[in-house]
Amino acid sequence: MPTEEYAGYREVVSESFRSWYGQQRDSWTGTDTNARVTEFVLGTAPAQEAGRRRTVLDVGCGRGLQTVALADQLSADVVGLDLLDVWDAPAPERGLVRHRQGDFLSFTAEPMDLLVDNGCLHHQRQEDWPGWVRHGHSLLRPGGVWAVSTFLSPHGETVAHPLDDGRLNWWVTEEALRGLFEPAGFEFRERTEIDRDFQYEGHWLKYLALSFTRR
Ligand SMILES: C[S@@+](CC[C@H](N)C(=O)[O-])C[C@H]1O[C@@H](n2cnc3c(N)ncnc32)[C@H](O)[C@@H]1O
Repeated sequence: MPTEEYAGYREVVSESFRSWYGQQRDSWTGTDTNARVTEFVLGTAPAQEAGRRRTVLDVGCGRGLQTVALADQLSADVVGLDLLDVWDAPAPERGLVRHRQGDFLSFTAEPMDLLVDNGCLHHQRQEDWPGWVRHGHSLLRPGGVWAVSTFLSPHGETVAHPLDDGRLNWWVTEEALRGLFEPAGFEFRERTEIDRDFQYEGHWLKYLALSFTRR
C-alpha cells in the first residue's frame, strides 16, 4: 500500500516530467538508443503461443512511441502506462495499444507475458525498488519476461544523481539489479549495454538493459 512519502515523491516525479515534456526537453523520446532497447526487448520476449496475442505492459511509456513499436513488431496487445497523459503516438498497424494514466504500483491486470520498463525504475526511490519488483512479479505469468533498461553506473557503484527539482536519476550496477530481481522470483536471462554517446562528469554514459524470466 503506497505510503504518504511514496505519494509525495510521486508528485515530485510527475511535476518534474510534466515540465520536461511541456518544454519539449524529453530528449529520450524516439531516440536510436530507444530503438536499441526495442531490439533487445524483441529478442528476449517470450514466444507467442498459438491462438492468442502476447500481452505487454510498457511501464513509464511517456509519449508512447515505443509502446506502439512493440505492438507493431510483436503484433501484441500492449498497455502503455504512465503517470502523465502525454501520449501522442500514432495508432499501431498491427496488434493493439491502450494507454492508461496512473502509477505502476496501483496498476492491476491479468498476468501478462512481457513487462517493459525502459527508464522508469531508475527514477524511483531506492527503498521502493523491492516493492516495485514484487509488484511487477504479480503482473507477470510464470515464464513471463521483464525487460528493464536503466542508467548504467560507469564506476561500479549504485548512486543517485538528484535533479534540482528532487527527481532522482539512479546510476545502477548490474550486480544491484540482479540482486534485486533474482531473490524476488526472477531468473536472469539476457543483457546488453547501449552507448549513449554522451559524456557527464568525465564518464561516457551507457544504458544497461537486462531481462529476467518470472519463475
Ligand atoms: C525517462 S521517461 C521514459 C519514457 C519512455 N519509456 C521512453 O523511453 O520514451 C520515464 C517515464 O516514466 C514515467 N513514470 C515515472 N514514475 C512512474 C510511475 N511510478 N508509474 C508510471 N509511470 C512513471 C514518467 O512520467 C516518464 O514518462
